[in-house]
Amino acid sequence: MDAKDKQKAYDSVLPRIRELIADETDLIAVMATVACELHHAFDHYDWTGFYRVVGPGSLKVGPYQGSHGCLAISFDRGVCGAAARLRQTQIVPDVHAFPGHIACSASTRSEIVVPVMNFEGTLVAVLDVDSDRPAAFDEVDGTGLAEVCRMVGAVTQATDAG
Ligand code: SME
Repeated sequence: MDAKDKQKAYDSVLPRIRELIADETDLIAVMATVACELHHAFDHYDWTGFYRVVGPGSLKVGPYQGSHGCLAISFDRGVCGAAARLRQTQIVPDVHAFPGHIACSASTRSEIVVPVMNFEGTLVAVLDVDSDRPAAFDEVDGTGLAEVCRMVGAVTQATDAG
C-alpha cells in the first residue's frame, strides 16, 4: 500500500466508523467496532486494539483483532506505556530498537500507539496497532488514528452525559 492508497483507505474508513458508532454510547461496543473496521481496512495492520486505563499507571487489554495480546501493561513498560505516560502518539519504526518493548508477538517489527482522552482531557485508553513490516507507520497513520481516537474519546462524553 503506497502513501496515496493509505490516505485513500483512511478517507474511506473514517466516515464509515463515524457512521457505525454515531448512536452508540457503550465504550466497549465502540472499541470493538473500531478495532474490527481498522484491522480489515489496512494490509499493514497485524494487531489492532485498545488497552484501557484501569487504575493508576495500569493498562488492561480491551477489544482487539489479531493474535494473542498481553493482558496487562504498566505505564512504565513498552510503547503502550510510553504513549500512556506521555499522552503522546508513539511511532516506532523498529520495535527491536525501542527500550522495553513488550514482544507479545515475535513477528511484530513496527508499531504506532495513540492516546484516547475523554472530554476532560483524561487518558482513558490507548489504541495500539502493530505491523509485521518494518517502518509501516507514518504521519498519515498518526493523523488518521488521532481522528479515530477523538471519536472514541467523545463516546465517554456521551456516556457520562447520558
Ligand atoms: N506492542 C506493545 C505491547 C502490546 S502488544 O504487542 C499487543 C508495546 O510494546 O507496548
